[in-house]
Amino acid sequence: MSDPRFALLDEIHDLVLVLDPDRTVVFVNRGAAVRLGAMHLGRPFIHVIRNPQCLDLLEQVERGAASAADTITLRTPTPGTFRIRVSRSDAGNDTRETPFIVVAMLDISEQIAAEQMRSDFVANVSHELRSPLTALSGFIETLQGPAKDDADASDRFLTLMQAETGRMTRLIADLLNLSKVEGRQAARPTDEIELQRILARACTLVQQRADDADKVIRFDIPSELPSIRGDEDELVQLVQNLLENAVKYSAPGTAIDVSVTPDTRTPGISGPTLTVAVRDHGEGIAREHLPRLTERFYRVDDHRGRKSGGTGLGLAIVKHVVQRHRGRLHIESEVGKGSIFKVHLPIEG
Ligand SMILES: Nc1ncnc2c1ncn2[C@@H]1O[C@H](COP(=O)(O)OP(=O)(O)O)[C@@H](O)[C@H]1O
Ligand SMILES: [Mg+2]
Repeated sequence: MSDPRFALLDEIHDLVLVLDPDRTVVFVNRGAAVRLGAMHLGRPFIHVIRNPQCLDLLEQVERGAASAADTITLRTPTPGTFRIRVSRSDAGNDTRETPFIVVAMLDISEQIAAEQMRSDFVANVSHELRSPLTALSGFIETLQGPAKDDADASDRFLTLMQAETGRMTRLIADLLNLSKVEGRQAARPTDEIELQRILARACTLVQQRADDADKVIRFDIPSELPSIRGDEDELVQLVQNLLENAVKYSAPGTAIDVSVTPDTRTPGISGPTLTVAVRDHGEGIAREHLPRLTERFYRVDDHRGRKSGGTGLGLAIVKHVVQRHRGRLHIESEVGKGSIFKVHLPIEG
């Protein structure tokens, strides 16, 4: 394996195999040995990677092409999607010797998954914008036609139209908020933050909704709290989203409990933390949904989620704000009993 002629190939990221003119594997670099297994030296290449596209590339090169490339998906010997390039080691020279063949493979599975996510995201956004737009055009048609001279109906339709434009406005605001925190992900926030102030600001923003739904927000916050390093607007958004959800997904007359507790040890965070917990006594969330809640546009009950005016982006924003603050989010929930969303924030940013 450690053929000195090819030693440098051990250092590169691609999986590299060198074949002699009989297609026997004569070298496997370190990356390829790790991903494909180390026992391939001396074996025919077609036993290592059994893939018709790959054979095709090999034949092209054997017929004289300097190199040939393609994208292949493998299940064995290692799962993944690879950009594979087969080339002759004499390409560019005019030596008479039969050339070695170099097979270089780069795992692009993550890139493919990221592209898929991006295109799903665009499809989702278009879908979310289209439904209120369709509703709006319907209302406009009605106002121009059947309801033209009906003042009561006009009032009703205008109210509905206002709700739909509100939905679009919220969606766009949340998309912008999400893209802002995502864009700032690499830079840790540095402002000195008083959590009491954050909670008070967030609470003011949801108070009206809570009152309308006959819910009380109760606080349990120590009078003395250390300040933390953070971004005030992002943290307000985080708490606001958790409080809005707690209001939305619980029955009228129930309470929402907000607490802050200092912790000395939190798994995954070095140093002391402050934990902000928002607990509701609402409908709860079934276990199978928990891992997906912070995905963009993921809703437990799609139809009702939209009707309640949510954008489906709230918890995605929460997740990104937590990540930017190098914190941790924990969700515990029991169907019929309620949920608790805990955000652990490191004190030293
Ligand atoms: N406190 C909660 N109780 C029950 N379900 C919740 C709670 N918070 C969030 N969810 C579920 O998680 C989904 C995603 O939340 P979120 O990202 O804030 O979007 P939405 O705009 O729908 O509120 C919601 O649609 C809801 O199904
Ligand atoms: Mg929400």
